[in-house]
Amino acid sequence: MFTAIILAAGMGTRMKSEMPKVIHRVCGKPLVKWVIDAAKNAGADEICVVVGHKAQMVKETLGGACGFALQEEQKGTGHAVMQAMDYIKQARGEVVILNGDTPLITSETIKSALEYHRADKNHATVITAVLPDASGYGRIVRAKDGSVMKIVEQKDATDEEKKINEVNSGMYVFDAPSLAFTLGKLTPNNAQGEYYLTDTLEILLGEGRKIGGFALDDNDEIRGINDRVQLSEAEKIMSKRINEKHMRNGVTIHAPESVYIEDGAEIGRDTEIFRDVTIKAGTKIGSGCVIGSGSLLDNAVVKDGADVLSSVILSSTVGEGTHVGPFAYIRPGCTVGRDVKVGDFVELKNSSIGNGTKISHLTYIGDSDVGERVNFGCGTVTCNYDGKNKFRTVIGDDCFVGCNTNFVSPINVGSGSYIAAGSTITEDIPENSLSIARARQVNKEGWKDKRK
Ligand code: UD1
Ligand code: CA
Repeated sequence: MFTAIILAAGMGTRMKSEMPKVIHRVCGKPLVKWVIDAAKNAGADEICVVVGHKAQMVKETLGGACGFALQEEQKGTGHAVMQAMDYIKQARGEVVILNGDTPLITSETIKSALEYHRADKNHATVITAVLPDASGYGRIVRAKDGSVMKIVEQKDATDEEKKINEVNSGMYVFDAPSLAFTLGKLTPNNAQGEYYLTDTLEILLGEGRKIGGFALDDNDEIRGINDRVQLSEAEKIMSKRINEKHMRNGVTIHAPESVYIEDGAEIGRDTEIFRDVTIKAGTKIGSGCVIGSGSLLDNAVVKDGADVLSSVILSSTVGEGTHVGPFAYIRPGCTVGRDVKVGDFVELKNSSIGNGTKISHLTYIGDSDVGERVNFGCGTVTCNYDGKNKFRTVIGDDCFVGCNTNFVSPINVGSGSYIAAGSTITEDIPENSLSIARARQVNKEGWKDKRK
């Protein structure tokens, strides 16, 4: 059990955005939400996010995922943590400080740092990394015996200290009473005139308390995001982690570097995903499915054994063994049954399609309820919109719809009916009928000669 305090009040100027930095997304999830989830998965029982810049927007994005403290003016990292004093005083274990803009931190690392802190009986443990280029970071100054003495910020460092390449990740484990005590002692006497959280270590050491440094193996975990280039780099790493997790769970992914899967998507075993596929949050794909190149699935449910080729499915369900595409567009609100065919250049919207129905090509079905085993000829259109209102088309089971049929809705077609090709249906059709709604053909023989 521990309390996490996540610093997220900064401006994020270099993002050049109307949005605060920490709610920019990596693999579909806001940066700070990744950090919250890592803390939760590591066992945090209380999480406080310190907000400041566009606080309301951050709060709305995160909703009930955590508690908040407000830092009205950004006077440094130490000052930010002071705003969460209520959480520190009530903490039922250690306080772990994290940053809202380091989404790659893992719950395993947080757990290991806590274990190290406990085993070493420290009052504070700073999470560090050794970087080839340490510029911009606070440097870890260690004593001859290897213990951490202090952290010097780049702007306050001597030339000798600037040569140190072990850096402060900005993440720490504190024993709660020590943190509360030392925050009260901070002063803004430094190059930036800020309350540095880093100064707490030196103060604690002066009090004879024990400080540790927990060095990470994977430098990626401390990557902070400051601009959109770093955002894309972090997403690349996160995307690889997500794709590898699915592959280890039994999903085949061809050309995984071209496949983008957001956090929280579910994919069953033996499903095969081809290149250039996008699978967004809320999507659930069953087992033994094929998701072909260029497909986009957003909040889609694709059941076992279905295949989706170069198609788009938004907020809709596709049943078992159903074929979709190539080049189909299933818009929000559709429930497509089992063993259905939704072929090329077919668009569906807000409709239910019964089991075994075939909509093979060039068809638009909107606001419709279609029964089972219906066959649509090429080029069928539901005329569901009169410019003001939308109307429904209802087609019973086992109907046969000839090519190039228009349904001027509202229309009800009874089950078992046939519609002749080229019909424009404006009236309901009783069951088991044949409906022909087109002008009769006239052949004028010898017309060409008479015209001369
Ligand atoms: C800080 C550390 C530095 C470390 C680096 C790692 C201090 C003094 N320095 O540097 O040793 O190497 O992090 O990235 O702590 N924040 C607030 N309120 C503030 C100031 C910052 O909430 O008043 C938040 C920021 O939004 C950010 C985090 O704290 O999430 C770190 O702030 P940032 O300015 O990036 O860190 P530095 O001061 O550069
Ligand atoms: Ca700063």
